[in-house]
Amino acid sequence: MTDLTTLEADLAAAVTAAPDVAALEALRVAALGKSGSISELLKTLGAMSPDERRERGPAINGLRDRIAAAIAGRKAALEAVELDVKLAAERVDLTLSPPPERQGRVHPTMQVLDEMIAIFAEMGFGLAEGPDIEDDFHNFTALNFPPKHPAREMHDTFWLPEDERGERKVLRTHTSPVQVRVMQRLNEKLPAWVANGPPGNGEPPIRVIVPGRTYRSDSDATHTPMFHQMEGLVIDRAIHMGHLKWTLETFIARYFETPLVETRFRPHHFPFTEPSAEMDVRCDRSGGEVRIGQGDDWMEIVGCGMVHPNVLKNVGLDPDQWQGFAFGFGIDRLGALKYGMPDLRDMFASDARWLEHYGFSAFAAPNPATGLS
Ligand code: DAH
Repeated sequence: MTDLTTLEADLAAAVTAAPDVAALEALRVAALGKSGSISELLKTLGAMSPDERRERGPAINGLRDRIAAAIAGRKAALEAVELDVKLAAERVDLTLSPPPERQGRVHPTMQVLDEMIAIFAEMGFGLAEGPDIEDDFHNFTALNFPPKHPAREMHDTFWLPEDERGERKVLRTHTSPVQVRVMQRLNEKLPAWVANGPPGNGEPPIRVIVPGRTYRSDSDATHTPMFHQMEGLVIDRAIHMGHLKWTLETFIARYFETPLVETRFRPHHFPFTEPSAEMDVRCDRSGGEVRIGQGDDWMEIVGCGMVHPNVLKNVGLDPDQWQGFAFGFGIDRLGALKYGMPDLRDMFASDARWLEHYGFSAFAAPNPATGLS
């Protein structure tokens, strides 16, 4: 029996001394595993005489049960210690302030777009949109660009490959083709309006702005191959240049949030307007920055004019009955001017650091010009 007593004492001591769960598991395998020391003893029972087995059997089984119980007890104790250590190490300090959460920013173009829409909406303009892929008719022909005229190339047009009908579509070079689409729609409604009067108690037949993406093969600090324009179109029976001038001057004062902005109209040429003009704002460009509302310099910010009679005819409107004005802003450029972004190309480089710096909070305070956020 002393061999069993010694084995038990050794095993019990080893169990107590096992430093961690892994060491204890190695010990269990060495004693109780398939060829462990206790398992080997149990195997010897088969070869014993019944008398001998009656005496040794309970002794070996008792040893096995006590050692198994000691291992289980030690395992529970070691696991409790390991859990305590883990809990202490991973303790959460609820008094610490949480790490700042990364917030998305509103892209300046979208911010400027919202500001522009809010101002024009207050003046009674509705919103219209058109496709980015245009046909030659809407982008050029209906807008009075003569066929094969160099003016079509003046826009550095991105032409698409010929389709199955031999037609080459374009990525629209400006938002002006939407003028054509809107006027064509008006034309469809005209017979009913002439009979019953325009809807909405003498509302003007057309007063829309058209924001959207435009494309030209051009890239430098003030040009990007994709940029954003906002077209404006007003058509009614007695519209003149004074309406155009007031609309643009009012918009500019509200957009730049100061009545000090000084503007000037300069004659220009566009195929789709007659007369045509560009509007400049007084600015100061000294010191590498552009400041609006002071200085001796002028910066062009919008092309405009009275809708050309040929354009009205091209959409089926009678120029003797209907007149109107149109204008086209570069949205990105307007943003660069107001918020001081020196290179337009950065706007579309998708650099998160740039957006972090120049972007706007999605929860901005209301715009003082419009009261809208
Ligand atoms: N479409 C012109 C451009 O992209 C801008 C423009 C000028 C639009 C005069 C107009 C306008 O509606 O009347 O250069």
